[in-house]
Amino acid sequence: MKTRLFRTILVFLLIYFALMEMVNLYMKHRQNTPPLSEMKKEARHFPENFLWGSATAAHQVEGGNTNNNWYLFEDAKDAEGNPKIHRNQKSGDAADHWNRYKDDIRLMSTMSLNSYRFSVEWSKVEPKPGQFDISVLKHYQDMVRTLLQAGIQPVLTLHHFTDPIWFVEKGGWLQENPWDDFLPFVKITTDFLKKDVQLWCTFNEPSVYAVNGWFTGEFPPGKNNAQEAALVLQNMLLTHARSYQLIKELSPESQVGLVKHIQIFDPANPRSPLDVLATLLLDRNFNHSVLEFLNSGNYSFNFPGLAVQKNKSEFTESYDFIGLNYYTRSFRKFKPGAANPIAEIIKNSEEERTDMNWEIYPEGLYRALKMVRSYTNKAIYITENGIADNSDTKREAYIRDHLAAVNYALGEGLDIRGYFYWSLLDNFEWAHGFDKRFGLYKVNFQTQQRILRKGSKTYTDIILNRIK
Ligand code: FCB
Repeated sequence: MKTRLFRTILVFLLIYFALMEMVNLYMKHRQNTPPLSEMKKEARHFPENFLWGSATAAHQVEGGNTNNNWYLFEDAKDAEGNPKIHRNQKSGDAADHWNRYKDDIRLMSTMSLNSYRFSVEWSKVEPKPGQFDISVLKHYQDMVRTLLQAGIQPVLTLHHFTDPIWFVEKGGWLQENPWDDFLPFVKITTDFLKKDVQLWCTFNEPSVYAVNGWFTGEFPPGKNNAQEAALVLQNMLLTHARSYQLIKELSPESQVGLVKHIQIFDPANPRSPLDVLATLLLDRNFNHSVLEFLNSGNYSFNFPGLAVQKNKSEFTESYDFIGLNYYTRSFRKFKPGAANPIAEIIKNSEEERTDMNWEIYPEGLYRALKMVRSYTNKAIYITENGIADNSDTKREAYIRDHLAAVNYALGEGLDIRGYFYWSLLDNFEWAHGFDKRFGLYKVNFQTQQRILRKGSKTYTDIILNRIK
């Protein structure tokens, strides 16, 4: 009896000390982040050959995408009969970038941008399995060549949140070897564009795609199954590694990377071991699982009570650079027994939030860069960072402050090669429809007129070193 009591107390104490150790580690890590005011004092470190860009994704800007999973999802309703997309909007013509890319490239030049990240639409390139539409590849080739003529370096993403309908109907990312379907598209696209494209991103934000599609249900297929989400993420990463091998074989000079969305998670109460634990679990599975995979080829997703998935890629070498997308941080509170036991808490004021209700937290970009750096010395491109700000009252400071964080990290010697503002144009913001306005250029979706936002001009001023 006594021994049992003694053991229970011992186990309890051990758990308590382990949790407190976690809190201490966490606090130490937090203290290493300099405040924005400090970062802003730093001298300028952007190198001469830095890529100053903007980013878009095919389905969000092109228009005419009627052959992918989003096209179907835009018509779908939830169990209560409500549309899945805010106000029942459809991507439709989007920003008509498919037809207006020449004008849009001129808009980039007007802003003194020297690079552009965009995605090719798999469902347009390969409308039926094994049938490739060469006119679509020629379209992208023309776009890339027009960019090069304008002195703008193309950065091409192969997969940005869309799958062809035929692929989904076969089982999509839950199939045993989904790469058998994806690699032929990678091969033909690489062969067609390798002369003109040097920087390739395989997948955009696989963890967001997997979680939003198979767990929160905000993206197609609108499911709520954590185990499937963990499997989809695994399969996308394994497909990434194979795509990397294939592109390097076909075009050894190319630089190939994966785009990772890093969200900063902080505990709602930094002195609560349970909040810290919840935060660390999210951070581990959402952020670190992907970075760890890139580093070692080992995939491990482990969320007790939700999903456990493990695998190992046969290819340990799978990237030349990391594309980092950073937008915000979220505060998490552990609420045992609640419907959402790791609740998100909004702590900051309206003024400090974007139209997405995301906290504006430039120091988080520095923290995200350091997180990537803790895994690798390879090059980092900030492939997305930007603000939804319809009133255009916060964009200027957002750009300036986030670039101050990048500059500070450069000063510490991090190998950061470029920054891509999201987005060049207002566009179809997935389940939010057209209402969230991220564009450097405001788009009137009735007339397709583009107008440079006042708050965007600061970006050009920084590029041209007119201001810091
Ligand atoms: C990122 C996506 C991009 C856009 C921005 C706001 O997660 O990659 O397509 O939706 O968020």
